Amino acid sequence: MHLPVVIIGAGPAGLVLAHLLHQQGVETRILELHARDYVEHRLRAGVLEQTTVDLLNAAGVGERLEREGLVHHGFSFQFDGERHRIALSELTGGRTITVYGQHEVVKDLIAARLAAGGEIVFEAKEISLHGIDSDHPRVRYTVGDETHEVTCDFVAGCDGFHGVCRPSIPVGALRLYERSYPFAWLGVLAASPPATHELIYACHERGFALNSMRSPQLSRLYVQCNPHDPIGAWPDDRIWSELRTRLATNDGWEPAEGPILEKSITAMRSFVAEPMQWGRLYLAGDAAHVVPPTGAKGMNLAVADAGVLADALSVWYRTGNDMALRGYSELCLRRVWRAEHFSWWMTSMLHRFDDDPFQWRLQLSQLQYVCSSRAAATTVAENYVGLPTV
Ligand code: APR
Ligand code: PHB
Repeated sequence: MHLPVVIIGAGPAGLVLAHLLHQQGVETRILELHARDYVEHRLRAGVLEQTTVDLLNAAGVGERLEREGLVHHGFSFQFDGERHRIALSELTGGRTITVYGQHEVVKDLIAARLAAGGEIVFEAKEISLHGIDSDHPRVRYTVGDETHEVTCDFVAGCDGFHGVCRPSIPVGALRLYERSYPFAWLGVLAASPPATHELIYACHERGFALNSMRSPQLSRLYVQCNPHDPIGAWPDDRIWSELRTRLATNDGWEPAEGPILEKSITAMRSFVAEPMQWGRLYLAGDAAHVVPPTGAKGMNLAVADAGVLADALSVWYRTGNDMALRGYSELCLRRVWRAEHFSWWMTSMLHRFDDDPFQWRLQLSQLQYVCSSRAAATTVAENYVGLPTV
């Protein structure tokens, strides 16, 4: 069995890539470790840059997103009990962001892929890559008791940070850059109407908190916590108590409470592997780079990589020219490193680091500056809505 492109992983990167290649007449098979139901309900971040929305629309998968996504023209930073709005649209010539859960994007893409007769193999286990430095890589995997092997022209490694693709590249062929943070995010989905129309990033002495939403009935909230905390250390009333304290403003505003439907703790890390390619294996999304969620960039980077890779592969299939493929990593890494810097900077400005009063005073000074200087606010806004030309 020979296929043009085998894609490992049915997250945003793998699904967008499959969809765009199909539009260019290049067929693929996606191999996904988990069941369909699992990937369609895995709760993740939910902020789409305008370029991401534009790409999904152009790919013909933006219909529900246009209907249900919440378009935002700004967000607020909060510190010392005061809220300061960053007017995203006003500062960026009218650009917006759209709040729409990553798993909703995944649902839409899976439905579109299957409707177009595309192949997604769910619960594909023990995936291994062979001969990726040759012209005909092979991918082996098992489904149930059966082992399968396919040959292909290219393998797309879209299997996230913990996948098998990046580790299939020989040690020494990649340069790895990494930063871990001494805190994590506890995220909850609550059946309460969002307390505000826009997102609030709050910097508080007790730690960071974020007020976000998924729909007019569902709130998505996060609090900074210790990365070693078991989830049991966070009963619902402790979560609400921290959210009330960290999000309260001096004029007495507090978030509306409701039943907590889901909660989980996510570690924070920054990570980049360079180059994003080896032989006939191309990495995209979290398989190649990870950002902490504070800048809301993870899904946007994954979709952007997929767009660049789809273009480069379709040029190769149309003309045999591999220039765009050779430039894939460099082109993506320019955007990736901008997002790495922005996410690290937002994370460093907004979280409470262990007892470091000097760092704390610097953070407050930076927040004051960002919230009072149009130039500094514009820098934040440009990065937040996404820099399409980087
Ligand atoms: N074999 C096959 N599939 C795998 C394997 C494996 N060994 N390991 C992981 N996968 C699958 C995962 O189950 C997941 O569905 O690969 C997919 C990777 O998807 P994501 O983790 O969503 O990564 P990506 O598409 O790059 O999107 C990045 O996801 O983690 C968030 O914050 C991140 O928003 C960003 C986005
Ligand atoms: C979310 O709504 O899940 C969300 C929003 C903004 C972020 C991270 C996550 O920076």
